[in-house]
Amino acid sequence: MAGRLTKSDLRDSKMHDVVEIPSTSDAAVDRMLCGLSMITSEHTLTETEAKYLRDLAGLIGRACKWCELGVWCGRSLWAAACGAWPDSRLYGIDTFEGRTARSQTDQTIIQCAPDGLFQWDLAYAVQNLINRQTDCCCTLIAGRSASPLKQIGDQTLDVLIVDADHRYESVRADLTAWLPKLRPGGLILGHDYTDHHPGVIRAFQERFGSNCETVDGTRYVQVYV
Ligand SMILES: C[S@@+](CC[C@H](N)C(=O)[O-])C[C@H]1O[C@@H](n2cnc3c(N)ncnc32)[C@H](O)[C@@H]1O
Repeated sequence: MAGRLTKSDLRDSKMHDVVEIPSTSDAAVDRMLCGLSMITSEHTLTETEAKYLRDLAGLIGRACKWCELGVWCGRSLWAAACGAWPDSRLYGIDTFEGRTARSQTDQTIIQCAPDGLFQWDLAYAVQNLINRQTDCCCTLIAGRSASPLKQIGDQTLDVLIVDADHRYESVRADLTAWLPKLRPGGLILGHDYTDHHPGVIRAFQERFGSNCETVDGTRYVQVYV
């Protein structure tokens, strides 16, 4: 794929519904995924946002390379996997520190976690589900978002989603660290590009200025590099 993606490229026929997470025969995994679906969307991913990610992954075509900084429980990765074509590779990086997270943003989200379930359990269940039920390969990495992965070569990434620590310095560090990994024409998305997260807006504006486009009906900002 080269250049910018457009809606007319969309191949609806292979899209699944991202809202329903399929049940499995593994009761423990089912229980975890049930917990995942209970996480309120206002704090994490709305249905519109999930569908946007699904459609975007579908637009990119075969063997897409997708990386998300800030996985939380894996819902947004699952959404991407629902639309991704075969042989796509999805990476997710998160500290997976669960209840010990330090930032205000994390604290808000952690309070939404279903009792007794931990972030890693849920994300791990989603990773396994993607690897079992789709033709994609999903790899979660526990670590700091501003440390780019060696296994992703420079200028090879189709999509980067920045959704980890939303403070200005962190978002700026994430962008600086990961920009070399994006292929020409690749896409960077930033989540929570809203007045509640001025650090996200500042870091994106400072780096990309008028190339920042908000995505209708979502809290994403998108930038083609
Ligand atoms: C807003 S949530 C991600 C939501 C997720 N993308 C979704 O749509 O469901 C932010 C996540 O970033 C993680 N996080 C915060 N600071 C981080 C850092 N410096 N490095 C890696 N992950 C971080 C938190 O653990 C949390 O899971």
